[in-house]
Amino acid sequence: MKKKSFMTPVLLMIFGLIAIVSFGLQLTGDKNETAETPEATEQPETEQPSSGEIAHNPPSLDDVPDGPLGEAILRGYELTNNTSEVLRAEAASVEDGERVVNGLSCTSCHAGAGMDENSSSMVGVSSVYPMYIPRSGKIVTLEDRINGCMIRSMNGEKFPEGSEDLKAMVAYLTYISEGIPSEMNADLPWRHLNNMDNPPTPNVDDGEALYQKSCIACHAGDGSGTGSNTGPALWGDDSFNDGAGIARMTKMAGYIQRNMPVGAENTLTDQEASDIAAYILSQDRPEWANHDKDWPGMESPSDIMTKERRDQVKDGTIDWDEVLGNN
Ligand code: HEC
Ligand code: HEC
Repeated sequence: MKKKSFMTPVLLMIFGLIAIVSFGLQLTGDKNETAETPEATEQPETEQPSSGEIAHNPPSLDDVPDGPLGEAILRGYELTNNTSEVLRAEAASVEDGERVVNGLSCTSCHAGAGMDENSSSMVGVSSVYPMYIPRSGKIVTLEDRINGCMIRSMNGEKFPEGSEDLKAMVAYLTYISEGIPSEMNADLPWRHLNNMDNPPTPNVDDGEALYQKSCIACHAGDGSGTGSNTGPALWGDDSFNDGAGIARMTKMAGYIQRNMPVGAENTLTDQEASDIAAYILSQDRPEWANHDKDWPGMESPSDIMTKERRDQVKDGTIDWDEVLGNN
């Protein structure tokens, strides 16, 4: 008994830290080599079926351990679930708060604080990172990836190095990743689901009509939303900037189809999801300053809805075939 309760999640977290540190030292080395009892990582408390398919089965927050680690996990949960409320309330001034983070929470896109299987679930992220990200052109740590969403999806600022809040978020994400083996990192079936490979050519006017019919109850007619976890801002100052992943047509259309409207998910056709995505992504939103530095050494995806593209929608010159890579 004693051994088991000690083994998880304290040990898993220690292994995570060791893995991250050792990764920097020996990129190709076996992560377990540095651990004293490698078999501990092979017997996670969370049950995994023997079929080979990894189960999405995050532990309950009721089982968070007492003590400093448990406090960090719960703080990380709060920061994930109520990001802007917490960070803005704790900022020195209103202006500071608005600079640090927009009006969204991580839950606005990673529903259930990252524990909803269909909504870009974050279960397992502490097992799959560090990993190579083409947009960054390098191997990024989980800390880097969280900060990536902070400066793009949250249109805010990075957590500073060594930040207790960043450590708390990692502790939380490590906790909900309990039992996900890192050796099978490529096979988590719930990753990268919110994507539509070939969206049909959209009609923005049809998208607007559909939006007004099916979305305004929660997201408001002007897209400013009703709250980060009831209907987050879809455009405008409080929303994501155009360097965010969801500012791409393929990701927005896929996300909308699989997750919206809440209560009637998976009811929109490809055409409808593409129309609404085009309408949302043609509205004004904060601009990402570093588009030219993304995707180093390769061509950027064509479906990023930048300011230039939004202007083309407004003046009627947009070439959707080019945006959607149909040329
Ligand atoms: C506006 C939407 C949005 C918000 C808000 C958002 N994210 Fe994300 N996040 C995404 C998208 C889209 C992806 C890419 C998912 C994919 O590749 O399928 C992503 C990916 C991630 C990943 C990598 C997941 C993986 O499997 O590789 C992490 C970690 C992450 N986000 C953390 C956060 C955190 C922490 C916050 C809050 C501080 C946050 N995100 C807020 C949209 C968002
Ligand atoms: C019943 C309320 C409700 C309705 C109706 C609804 N949404 Fe949402 N929407 C939410 C909630 C709540 C979230 C936060 C994530 C979650 O809980 O799934 C969200 C998140 C989103 C996001 C990601 C977050 C962001 O800020 O970009 C998009 C995009 C989105 N909704 C688009 C739509 C579209 C398009 C429609 C209409 C087809 C729609 N929603 C209808 C409640 C709703």
